[in-house]
Amino acid sequence: MFPEHRPRRLRRTPALRDLVRETRLSQASLIYPLFCVEGEGVREPVASMPGVERFSADMLSDEVKEISDLGIAGVLLFGIPTDKDALGSGAYDPDGVVQRSLRTIRDAAPELVLIADVCLCEYTDHGHCGVFDGNDVRNDPTLPLLGKTAVAAARAGADVLAPSDMMDGRVAEIRRQLDAEGFEDRAILSYAAKYASAFYGPFRDAAESTPETGDRQGYQMDPGNAREALREIRMDLDEGADMVMVKPALPYLDVIRAARESCDVPIFAYQVSGEYSMIHAAAERGWIDLERAMRESLLSIRRAGADGIITYFAKDFARDARRVGG
Ligand code: PBG
Repeated sequence: MFPEHRPRRLRRTPALRDLVRETRLSQASLIYPLFCVEGEGVREPVASMPGVERFSADMLSDEVKEISDLGIAGVLLFGIPTDKDALGSGAYDPDGVVQRSLRTIRDAAPELVLIADVCLCEYTDHGHCGVFDGNDVRNDPTLPLLGKTAVAAARAGADVLAPSDMMDGRVAEIRRQLDAEGFEDRAILSYAAKYASAFYGPFRDAAESTPETGDRQGYQMDPGNAREALREIRMDLDEGADMVMVKPALPYLDVIRAARESCDVPIFAYQVSGEYSMIHAAAERGWIDLERAMRESLLSIRRAGADGIITYFAKDFARDARRVGG
């Protein structure tokens, strides 16, 4: 009881605060998302995401060397093809945009962990994450295409395949096809608890993946559900997922915590585009401090229980950490 107990004693100096800090974060736990476009010599800013760019394969070498030099663990690749079709065939084309980018990165920065996002939405002309019948996304006909996409990325050098489509049964199908093609050594990071979220807005700009009609509520999770997230995680682990993800991060810290307590595999959280851009937007107006808000949001995700974080702040965080020696 006060006055014997005074918690402020341990907050008196920076050294004391540092000594008793419970949660730390390093860039070795961060993954940086990369948007890969077709063509040559392309390096273009994404209007809705300050500081984020889209790269053609030939422009990736310098970028990934920098990411690697900063001590960031790896990159997560998204492809934006110029031609889209009903079945998203660019996703599993051996010479598709992600496959070419993977080969470039493998050579330029061999020490990075290469994660390929496995989904069809950037590659379909209707913008949905699977086979679309004009009304609904068909689950089972989508599965073989996702498996083919994972195999194409593995063949191009991906270490980890990360399905983000939210079809039921996709982890088992991806595992089966990877194993059948001799890629039993590649890991699956499933977006197990991916919510139908308003916070993906800026990404859909960057990736040109807004559905032409309808929305994704028929396959992505309802924001009200936490128990269901644990069920999704359990199902994906039963199907062979090596790691699982919760997405978005900040509005779902309780889900990250619950996931941490319910399973023993590595858990990732995705600090999505809207989370990133709203911090930038508020900082641009002078309403919050960008660096502090960045560090605090990332730390909270870690404190909730995430082992790794996928974030557009990865490079800024790493530069900042170098500067302050954290
Ligand atoms: C593809 C996918 C999306 C994101 C990651 N993979 C978009 C979506 O589901 O609409 C969002 C990432 C972000 O907002 O940063 N299915």
